[in-house]
Amino acid sequence: MPPLCDSLPAWSALQAHYRDEVQALDLRQAFAADAGRLDALSQQAPHVFADLSKNLWTVRTEELLRALAQQSGVQARRDAMLAGAHVNASEDRAAMHWLLRMPADRGGLRECAVVQQWQPGMHQALQDVHDTLDAMLALAEQVRADEGITDIVNIGIGGSHLGPEVVANALEDWVDSGKNFHFVSNVDGHELGHVLRRVRPASTLFLIASKSFTTAETMLNARSARQWFLAQGGSEDPQAACSIDRHFVALTTNVQAAAEFGIRRTLGFWDWVGGRFSLWSAIGLPVAIAIGAVQFRALLAGAHAMDAHFFTAPMEANLPLRLGLLDVWYRDFCGFSSRCIAPYSHGLRRLTAYLQQLEMESNGKGVTREGQRLAVPTAPVIWGEPGTNGQHAFFQMLHQGQDVIPVEFIALRDGGKYLGAHHQSLVVNAIAQAQALMEGRHGEGAERHCEGNRPSSFLLLQQLDPASLGALIALYEHRVFTAGAVWGINSFDQWGVELGKHLARQLHARQDSGDWQGVDASTRALMRRLAAGAAGPAP
Ligand code: F6P
Repeated sequence: MPPLCDSLPAWSALQAHYRDEVQALDLRQAFAADAGRLDALSQQAPHVFADLSKNLWTVRTEELLRALAQQSGVQARRDAMLAGAHVNASEDRAAMHWLLRMPADRGGLRECAVVQQWQPGMHQALQDVHDTLDAMLALAEQVRADEGITDIVNIGIGGSHLGPEVVANALEDWVDSGKNFHFVSNVDGHELGHVLRRVRPASTLFLIASKSFTTAETMLNARSARQWFLAQGGSEDPQAACSIDRHFVALTTNVQAAAEFGIRRTLGFWDWVGGRFSLWSAIGLPVAIAIGAVQFRALLAGAHAMDAHFFTAPMEANLPLRLGLLDVWYRDFCGFSSRCIAPYSHGLRRLTAYLQQLEMESNGKGVTREGQRLAVPTAPVIWGEPGTNGQHAFFQMLHQGQDVIPVEFIALRDGGKYLGAHHQSLVVNAIAQAQALMEGRHGEGAERHCEGNRPSSFLLLQQLDPASLGALIALYEHRVFTAGAVWGINSFDQWGVELGKHLARQLHARQDSGDWQGVDASTRALMRRLAAGAAGPAP
């Protein structure tokens, strides 16, 4: 049984380091005292520059965090993932989302010893990835050329929704398909209804995106979409002009369930692709239709560049690893329970929602891979909104609130076609907010007092192009992996979401049977109020 992270020597050393050297750290004095602070705590990684110097840590902090990573076996676990080991032990699966974006010749990992020692099955898996990718991109180009299709409706939830949605939104400037894209995820019929009122069966392609093809929300939305399609004149006859065959595609690992649903066109992927890591797979079809094969391959290439960096760079120059360790430092030594994501980019307006699943579904756990109870906190609460909007909503609390909340600024050097005054104003605001959080405001009365010394990271991309976006998302995937490896948890399963699904199914059954035996008074009363309906009297 491996030792728990908080029993490792480096953990105690970090606790002492925090107590003796960082608890009283003043960033303003740290910059004044050390001209080399910025360079020591900043780094260029593929497509992403990171200024980490405004964080509440020092070079010594990073040294101790690297010792913790070594004692936690982070690099060994990283290399096991790269070797195709079943690192997702509770589901007895590998975690190979990084394989989805690896070039056929193994690209930047060709010289990596772990890759050179791959078992034969890994080479076959890579070949299968490229065969599937080629088929997916061929279908995407076929749909893009089909002038009879004007609307693409993606029906999926969680990783089958948030990943393609964040990428499709972020790459709006690269969308050249001339088609309208709709993402339906919630089981609330208003969302699907809103879309169905705006599309026509004959010119709509429905993508039913579900790794398991069993998720209740997606299956109900898919059934309703099919009913609508048939009611509007569509046909189940494959020979018909407006048929299910032509207008429905399933994106899933469960081809049999898709066939039983009545969908014969299926793009498959593998069980070693986690839902929240799946946008690079067939789940990314709506993105490939939106931006085309060339740009989708650019997205993959950007992510691969970050993969090669993560799997080969030394710890002191490994940005995903440094950020993952920073997350552990803030959560377990500084005691910060949340992190604010502030993308200063309208295109990245859905990034926080995506990162909430990636970080909180991966690391929002309290037991280790071996089932040992952890006594330390793990994933922080991830929240935020794009800037500059956040400045008019919650930055008051970030500046003057009682909690210290690390902020992550993400900005672009080149704002694309909106470069001008708008972009200048946007990025200067981000930089000013990071400065204000650190500097604070003093001597102008209590109400105006801002303590300052509030930490932030600043990630800067050249522009919001496919390669940069791919690298950014891969950066977060590996950062989450690193923190999970330190905590000793399995970042690739999600057993916590099963209970709610089970109880919802039970409540439906009890609603039908009327048997409320053993159900708590609150749940029973709420269900009765629901049964009475809006018009009915309070029971
Ligand atoms: O939230 C639980 C979960 O299993 C996620 O991990 C997943 O992304 C989502 O539900 C959707 O699952 P599926 O793609 O199988 O429909």
